[in-house]
Amino acid sequence: MEVVIVPDARAGGELIAEAIAALVRRKPDALLGVATGSTPLPIYEALAAKVRAGAVDASRARICQLDEYVGLPAGHPESYRSVVLREVVEPLGLGEDSFLGPDGTAQDVPAACEAYDRALGEAGGVDLQLLGIGTDGHIGFNEPCSSLASRTRIKTLTQQTREDNARFFDSLDEVPHHVITQGIGTILEARHLVLLATGEGKADAVAHAVEGPVAALVPASALQLHPHATVVVDEAAAAKLK
Ligand code: F6R
Repeated sequence: MEVVIVPDARAGGELIAEAIAALVRRKPDALLGVATGSTPLPIYEALAAKVRAGAVDASRARICQLDEYVGLPAGHPESYRSVVLREVVEPLGLGEDSFLGPDGTAQDVPAACEAYDRALGEAGGVDLQLLGIGTDGHIGFNEPCSSLASRTRIKTLTQQTREDNARFFDSLDEVPHHVITQGIGTILEARHLVLLATGEGKADAVAHAVEGPVAALVPASALQLHPHATVVVDEAAAAKLK
């Protein structure tokens, strides 16, 4: 695992956007796995700026989701499908046909999870998967104690994660209790994992993930098992690394 310490979130976003641009120049139809939440926004902004400036042609790139709330109506502004369309797909000038995600409105959620894992395989696998990290060490919505071999499946959000995500909703009551998330085993199949963590609130989780033992209690520690994992942290999130 490579750990890169950058001065701030903006520098992290720029560094990762350049890595994505380099991938897309090498492989124009690369499948890019994206995370939602606050952390990756500087990446998406920097990447869209490169596309606008003509520094990279991303018109053949493909985008896939890491996770999705269960039960939000289609088109809800905080469904991760809507968020990814708004924050990534549209700013990059891509169409909805370039985009893969699990169906959080499915009647048969386990079947939707299996279908999503299958779709990722049929698309040739994820070339670069972006990840954030939860304050409890989760990746995707694989909360502590998730199996390190898990596949895409339905999970119950912890109270902590619901509270962390309440800022995107009008009230805590509106935050769904369930999500579909790529499993840790699914995530580990991506060819390159890139985790960005910024801010002092992530410092404990980063230290446990990077320097602690590989353990289901800290899902992000699974990155230590991956042959090509890059962890980009700003100085605040790096504060508890030895
Ligand atoms: C969301 C996701 C989550 C977030 C994590 C950190 O798609 O995968 O694991 O990356 O909860 O969220 P932020 O970046 O908002 O602190």
